[in-house]
Amino acid sequence: MLERIDKIFASCGVLTRSECQTAVKRKKITVNGEIVKSPSQKADIEKDEILYENNVVELKKFVYIMLNKPNGVVSASEDGNCKTVVDILPESYKRKGLFPCGRLDKDTVGLVIITNDGVSSHKRLAPKTHAEKVYYFETVDPVSIKDVEKISNGVLLKDGYTTKPSKVKLLTDNSGEITLIEGKYHEIKRIFGSLGNKITYLKRISFAGIKLDSNLLEGEARYLTKEEQDLFTK
Ligand code: URA
Repeated sequence: MLERIDKIFASCGVLTRSECQTAVKRKKITVNGEIVKSPSQKADIEKDEILYENNVVELKKFVYIMLNKPNGVVSASEDGNCKTVVDILPESYKRKGLFPCGRLDKDTVGLVIITNDGVSSHKRLAPKTHAEKVYYFETVDPVSIKDVEKISNGVLLKDGYTTKPSKVKLLTDNSGEITLIEGKYHEIKRIFGSLGNKITYLKRISFAGIKLDSNLLEGEARYLTKEEQDLFTK
């Protein structure tokens, strides 16, 4: 598929669009041996030989993106009605086959990993190798030490399911951090609901040991670092 040179470099994670512009000006990019004259020039990454400073530019098979999900966005690849976490990625990150690893509720904010690596994603969600997930929460009513104890032993939900033990660290009477080792529908809201309390704010701050980058504003994304990728794919 023919695509702009700057788009190719951005989706390969090699150069941002503005870095690509500079590289073109400095005659550092060639396509099939010809110096590229404009970042808008088109090439086909699968058919043409694209070189940057004499190194071959290749499309990475897998990409791993960290998104700070805002409120009101759906954790899916596509949705008929609402914006999805894939829709809101910067254009240069978009490519075929991206999906979020697991789901946050529409009104939950924070860390979502978006990838096209189905095998690793499956591992991080499978019961035996499920990723540990940490959420910051706020509640309507104070959370007692008794509640923390109950949650750490597992809580019987209204549908008859008993949750796996979850650690809770209280930060104030009405807020704290909870660590889940499984992913049941609305799990945190239902845990607190079964204790007669209500979640008013929920933010995922860590997934599989990968911490939400505090430099990312809501709606912003970046590629995972090598170390973070290793935590995701291990
Ligand atoms: N638990 C919830 O209740 N909602 C989420 O989005 C994630 C965990």
